[in-house]
Amino acid sequence: MFNTRVKIKTLLAQEPQNLEVTVMGWVRTFRNNQFIALNDGSTGNNLQVVAELGKFDEELLKRITTGASLKIKGTVVPSLGKGQKMDLVAQSIEVLGDSDAEKFPLQPKKHSLEFLREIAHLRFRTNTFSAVFRVRHTLAFAVHKFFNEKGFVYLHTPIITASDAEGAGEMFRVTTLPFDNPPRNEDGSINYKEDFFGRATNLTVSGQLEGELGAMAFSDIYTFGPTFRAENSNTTRHLAEFWMIEPEMAFHDLEDNMNLAEEFIKYIIKHAIDNNKEDLEFLAQRLADEEKQLPQDKRSEMGLMEKLEFVLNNNFERITYTEAIDILINSPAYKKKKFQYDVKWGIDMQSEHERYLVEKHFKKPVIVTNYPKDIKAFYMRQNEDGKTVAAMDILAPGIGEIVGGSQREERLEKLEERMMQMHIPAAELWWYLDTRRFGSVPHAGFGLGFERMVQFVTGMGNIRDVIAFPRTPKSAEF
Ligand code: 4AD
Ligand code: MG
Repeated sequence: MFNTRVKIKTLLAQEPQNLEVTVMGWVRTFRNNQFIALNDGSTGNNLQVVAELGKFDEELLKRITTGASLKIKGTVVPSLGKGQKMDLVAQSIEVLGDSDAEKFPLQPKKHSLEFLREIAHLRFRTNTFSAVFRVRHTLAFAVHKFFNEKGFVYLHTPIITASDAEGAGEMFRVTTLPFDNPPRNEDGSINYKEDFFGRATNLTVSGQLEGELGAMAFSDIYTFGPTFRAENSNTTRHLAEFWMIEPEMAFHDLEDNMNLAEEFIKYIIKHAIDNNKEDLEFLAQRLADEEKQLPQDKRSEMGLMEKLEFVLNNNFERITYTEAIDILINSPAYKKKKFQYDVKWGIDMQSEHERYLVEKHFKKPVIVTNYPKDIKAFYMRQNEDGKTVAAMDILAPGIGEIVGGSQREERLEKLEERMMQMHIPAAELWWYLDTRRFGSVPHAGFGLGFERMVQFVTGMGNIRDVIAFPRTPKSAEF
């Protein structure tokens, strides 16, 4: 058996009592031809390995370079040095894979996040990214734990679909037709009957519509999968491929929906604090250092840990869209013409407006409800006023919209009428409408953008730094 090693996280949690162990990992630094900082990704902390002077060949020592992988057998003893509780005194060192120090792009120094994005295949080996991706893992695990404990069924909705769940037309086409000479109909349009699926298909923008089908049988389902948006948004909050969690609940109204979303967000944050404290504290320090470069008024009022605790211990503010617009119009920022975009009832709030509400006005997450129907999707339940729908968005400090959801229109005629007005092809969505024909019930759901959530918890400013291999306009490396 090759692998009888102990992981560094497990080892560091023990008392150093002359234990014989084997460890494997990658060299972070090698100081004085004697001290190896070894990391295996199980924790942000390195194990200090001592290669006693004179004990090992010069040839071997030359191969211990940053990035090289090693298998080390040795004895764990209390450390004489400062900064760590134990040392591993090496008895044998085997180089599993060399790393040419001249060519290895990661030097033992601070690199910019922009540079690391260009070498995303190696960036997991830095302190920052290993912390971010361990936290991401914990959050993903917590998502499943939360819904499992509540009796939700995890439904895998399709990735290739023929429908546009959001009706926004921002889809990536999926086809096997030849680009240069696709089969055409008499009128010159492309004949998708000849395509792989016998119709035009695309990558899903949301699993919601299929999720609703599941909720009409299981009561409560959730999806957690990749979604794709061909929107040309080059911002720190948008990806062309992102992961979304979409619970859908039968016998739920808008208020139940808000309650669940708030409980869910708090639960997964708490799970990360309970299980990734060291990583979060590291990221909190990173953020604090980064913010020192900013002018005073651009810095956050709270540190990362403080912010997370604050979110756990306070209720989210709940206001209607109409109230939100009033707050904005009466704000000093509006009066001093500080907003780039105008504010009036009916607008789709811009991120400057959302950020004003959460960061300046309420200073906490805000749930905005009952948006104008014309800026929201066709499936949202129409309110009595004829102008608004039972929508809810959750806005988070530093992020903006983190959740989008609604109570769904369960009344067949109302839904059909709205689809017609919005030019949504009802005939193609016959299966969706069937849920309203056979045992329709009030139901609701929401979508949480997983990367935005990871950004919120890790304090990373750019969404490209919380997904392993980001897909954004003009970029699909790795
Ligand atoms: O508001 P959205 O578009 O809502 C839906 O897709 C609904 N079907 C959800 C539902 O009710 N089941 O997207 C939901 C969330 C947003 O609040 C945001 O957090 C995230 O998904 N999101 C994105 N994240 C990264 N990059 C993008 N381009 C995103 N677009 C939306
Ligand atoms: Mg939205």
